Amino acid sequence: MIKRETIEKVLDAARIEEVVGDFVDLKKRGTSFIGNCPFHNEKTPSFHVSVAKGIYKCFGCGAGGDALKFVMELEKYSYPEAIRYLADKYSVPVEEIERSPAQLAAQDRRESLYVLSTWAGKYFKEQLWHTESGQSVALSYFKERGYREDIIKKFDLGYSSDQWSALADAAAENGFHKDYLKEIGLAIERDDGSLYDRFRGRVIFPIHNLTGRVIGFGGRTLKTEKTVPKYVNSPESDIYHKSDVLYGLHFAKKTIKDNDVCYLVEGYADVLSMHQAGVENVVSSSGTSLTSGQIRLISRFTNNVVILYDGDAAGIKASLRGTDMLLEEGLNVKVVLFPDGNDPDSYVQTYGSTGFKKYIAEHQEDFIFYKTNILLKNTGGDPIKRAEVIREVIESIALIPDEIKVSVFIQQCSHLLDIEERVLLTELNKIRIQKAKAQDKKIQQASKSSNESSPPDMPPADFFLTDAERTKEVSSEGVTPQTLTSDTLQEREIVRILLNYGEELAEWEGDGDVPIAPLLLNALDDVTFEDRPSAFIVNVFKQKAEHFEIPDVKYFFSHKDREVQDLAITCVATPYELSPNWNDDKRKIYVRQEREHLRELTIQGIYRIKKRKIEKEMIKIREELKIIDVGENMEILLAKYQKLKEAEKTLGEFLGNIVVK
Ligand code: GTP
Ligand code: MN
Repeated sequence: MIKRETIEKVLDAARIEEVVGDFVDLKKRGTSFIGNCPFHNEKTPSFHVSVAKGIYKCFGCGAGGDALKFVMELEKYSYPEAIRYLADKYSVPVEEIERSPAQLAAQDRRESLYVLSTWAGKYFKEQLWHTESGQSVALSYFKERGYREDIIKKFDLGYSSDQWSALADAAAENGFHKDYLKEIGLAIERDDGSLYDRFRGRVIFPIHNLTGRVIGFGGRTLKTEKTVPKYVNSPESDIYHKSDVLYGLHFAKKTIKDNDVCYLVEGYADVLSMHQAGVENVVSSSGTSLTSGQIRLISRFTNNVVILYDGDAAGIKASLRGTDMLLEEGLNVKVVLFPDGNDPDSYVQTYGSTGFKKYIAEHQEDFIFYKTNILLKNTGGDPIKRAEVIREVIESIALIPDEIKVSVFIQQCSHLLDIEERVLLTELNKIRIQKAKAQDKKIQQASKSSNESSPPDMPPADFFLTDAERTKEVSSEGVTPQTLTSDTLQEREIVRILLNYGEELAEWEGDGDVPIAPLLLNALDDVTFEDRPSAFIVNVFKQKAEHFEIPDVKYFFSHKDREVQDLAITCVATPYELSPNWNDDKRKIYVRQEREHLRELTIQGIYRIKKRKIEKEMIKIREELKIIDVGENMEILLAKYQKLKEAEKTLGEFLGNIVVK
């Protein structure tokens, strides 16, 4: 276990903008930073990083947290993995508390998988450079293909000799557990329980995650027989999620950012050859169609993608796949096809760096035109097929979120297809109307089920949805979206005031200047909080108040209770330092005003929640009145009810006064 002091040192050292900045292209906006959210697909940035508060918050998908949570969520690290990552980044020595072997095993299973994976990478490298067969078979193969030593080393290439269990045996000698070997697929178990190596007789391409850790392997056969699969890859595992990985991204991310374009190729070989030619902003989808996770990865670094594919039929087909998804995400997509039979790898090896760069520069074509031309070629003048092409092309155009780009494409496609622009626009509108209708239906269903709404001067109800609650809403699309009851809303509003303004002084008649927190707590002493995370936070404030202290808000940001953590972040990440695209006027005005009216804000919070509790009490009495017989009890209840009603009225008037003011 990592020592508490180490964890504190790491959390102190971590600067949110630096930690996030390693993964997200951040732009400065006033005192904070904004960028495209890495947790959901978006075109306009709604991901905010507040340097002062040390937190990030996405106003699009609701994700939020501190530096530690960021790496945990993004890299799927466990708590100790994330601490170690940050400790490494900030050169904080990690001190450990001694653990028993059993604890060790249980606690860091994933860490063990990483360790094994890293070890295997080193083993394969060792085999390549320092064994006779490695040098004579594998190294010579790489060199024959034209790879320089610096490139072979940079990509950590390796070799797995053609023996049944060389790696499995070496792993056992080094004390690695069989289960781990099986889990990350380095070895496969026979019926008799013995193991054999997956990558026998293959050259090895290690696959790195964004932070440069080895998480999987691709192995290319050295045999020429058609019966042997050319590539064998690591299976999906706890540390290797294929749909969230792009080969080469770790080496490419900086250049992608600097050049603001990402080249997308099919194979490992293409990535290597391009690096060798000095084109480093290149990633490979490893022969499969793109996933939304991979697109999200790319869009963290750039909005421009150029697809470089083989000009043969398969390459063309592949280039049309997955591309609509890129368009939909607002990425600018271009295509370069290489002359038939050439992939980027063979082209650059034949024509050299200069010839390659020239070819890319001269043969880039916007995806829409490329698609139009390809489809047109196949119609052979058949008018029905032509109509089909038009529809397909317009469908792609309809995905593009940028209006200006859409009109440019429509114009140019009208030339290409030799069809009046007006006709294309009609088709475009038809598709859009269909989509809008589908969208409307969804929204209607959603609003039908959300009948509670917050008062006009409180943040909108969805403001208080925490990360987890929002996620629930998204995943159960079409069904009831998550809504908070107004009880919860009011309790969370109190928490929000406490967290944001607890320490601030407000002028109170007679009392002089008193911080808001103790005042609020005093006034709400008789109120029980029912929303679990709200109750927790209020309680901590109460405990601290006994010693005349106010808790440090940061304490909640990294709290181990997810709900508490989420709520604290959600409450504090009010969009003060808003970007212009925060176009919800209601929120803007609300936020601007409240700092000047802290006293009213607090009083409102207090009275609202009291009024609500009284209302609930009244409802309860009404229910009781319904079922009891005439008698003494009834009179008591009625008297109680009357009192509550008066109190409610007074509070209501009071509230009305403040709200109107
Ligand atoms: P070379 O043939 O050595 O030039 O490798 P390449 O990387 O250019 O391979 P190719 O263009 O044939 O295929 C592109 C990508 O598809 C490869 O990098 C692999 O990721 C994947 N791929 C190709 N063949 C296979 C296969 O037999 N099995 C699997 N799982 N993937 C393959
Ligand atoms: Mn190839």
